[in-house]
Amino acid sequence: MKIFNRIESNVRSYCRSFPTVFTRATGATLIDEGGRRYIDFLSGAGALNYGHNNERLKARLLAYLESDGIVHGLDMATTAKREFLETFDRTILRPRGLSYKLQFTGPTGANAVEAALKVARNVTGRSNVVAFTNGFHGVTLGAVAATANAHYRDAAGLPPGGTSFMPYDGYLGDVDTTDYLDQVLRDQSSGIDHPAAVIVETVQGEGGVNVASLEWLRRLEAICRRHSVLLIVDDIQAGCGRTGPFFSFEEAGIRPDLVTLSKSLSGYGLPFSLVLMRPELDTWKPGEHNGTFRGHNLAFVTATAALDEYWQDDQLTTDVRRKGRTVAAALESIVSGTAPELLSARGRGLVRGLDCGSGDLAAQACATAFDHGLVIERSGSDGQVIKCLCPLTIEDAELAQGLEILRESVAAAVADATAPLSSAAGAAR
Ligand SMILES: Cc1ncc(COP(=O)(O)O)c(C=O)c1O
Repeated sequence: MKIFNRIESNVRSYCRSFPTVFTRATGATLIDEGGRRYIDFLSGAGALNYGHNNERLKARLLAYLESDGIVHGLDMATTAKREFLETFDRTILRPRGLSYKLQFTGPTGANAVEAALKVARNVTGRSNVVAFTNGFHGVTLGAVAATANAHYRDAAGLPPGGTSFMPYDGYLGDVDTTDYLDQVLRDQSSGIDHPAAVIVETVQGEGGVNVASLEWLRRLEAICRRHSVLLIVDDIQAGCGRTGPFFSFEEAGIRPDLVTLSKSLSGYGLPFSLVLMRPELDTWKPGEHNGTFRGHNLAFVTATAALDEYWQDDQLTTDVRRKGRTVAAALESIVSGTAPELLSARGRGLVRGLDCGSGDLAAQACATAFDHGLVIERSGSDGQVIKCLCPLTIEDAELAQGLEILRESVAAAVADATAPLSSAAGAAR
């Protein structure tokens, strides 16, 4: 690891949690240069829903490269882009009765968020945007202004502005937080400038696996409509099947005005981002939001292959729900069998969190898991939530093995954390 520590910027983060040099990967397995194998419950922070080097997608990518297909084409029309547009329309939009224009942005999720916020602000002529406590939307200036965590906001170099934060579902316990939003938007004297849009994650991935109820999402949509505010669903982490259906908002039956997608959209871990918008919102002038790597052709090829291979029927959705129940049951049993007073579990589909109540406890459990061959990360304001984000295509046996490593690691961390208390109690007796 010497060269990384010597000349790579201090900003590096995941390699600190997983201090080894990875060299190969397939499916849910990562292999380091020493030949050690790890089960991957991180999945590129949600960018590898179909696993590493998915065979079904790799064949299409290799054939495209072999044929000298266009790799880089700015935003020129290519056969690969046409195939993606046709397949996305036929496979995803039409069956769901959705009519959106597609904007390919620069390849990061943050760039899609930037574009969606610009659209909302330019179309409405309003600058304020409502975002939520614990929300995460990326770290470029516009996106970080909609991101709640001070760790990212403080690094922006400018005071991030143009956003007002509202409590997410569950932030105030049993209180329905949409009532507060409704009241604020209704009241000329609330001090909140009437927003262009509300931007929301249906499940807050980075924010600690906080799950908005379907009812809360429906009320949020109704409030947006009532007050003529655009609804942006940031589906960058929760979309592409992570919660079950292709879009995470489908179960709620809502229809966002704009949707951001990235991470697993390419299906192969290739950088690729997209904004979906109602056609009448597409008031862009040519090139106003541009970038050299908009809609990369290799990503078009693998994204099309992913839609062909996994989204022609509801098999993957069914499988995600089934595996999601397996993970939920395993986490519940870790909670009840280890420390019900310290731990709690939550999630939807295959984004599941184990709240350890403390960042230190979660960090220790994740470090032990890594030592035992499981790559798994933390989220939440204090890093207190262990986030299970395995590939959707993980084999059942590998899933069970990963969950067992997690159980042992959490049990060991809890035992360590509570040991001084037990020995003190023992001594007192
Ligand atoms: C919901 C959400 N939005 C936006 C982003 C930013 O994406 P990127 O890191 O590709 O800029 C992330 C990244 O984790 C995310 O989870």
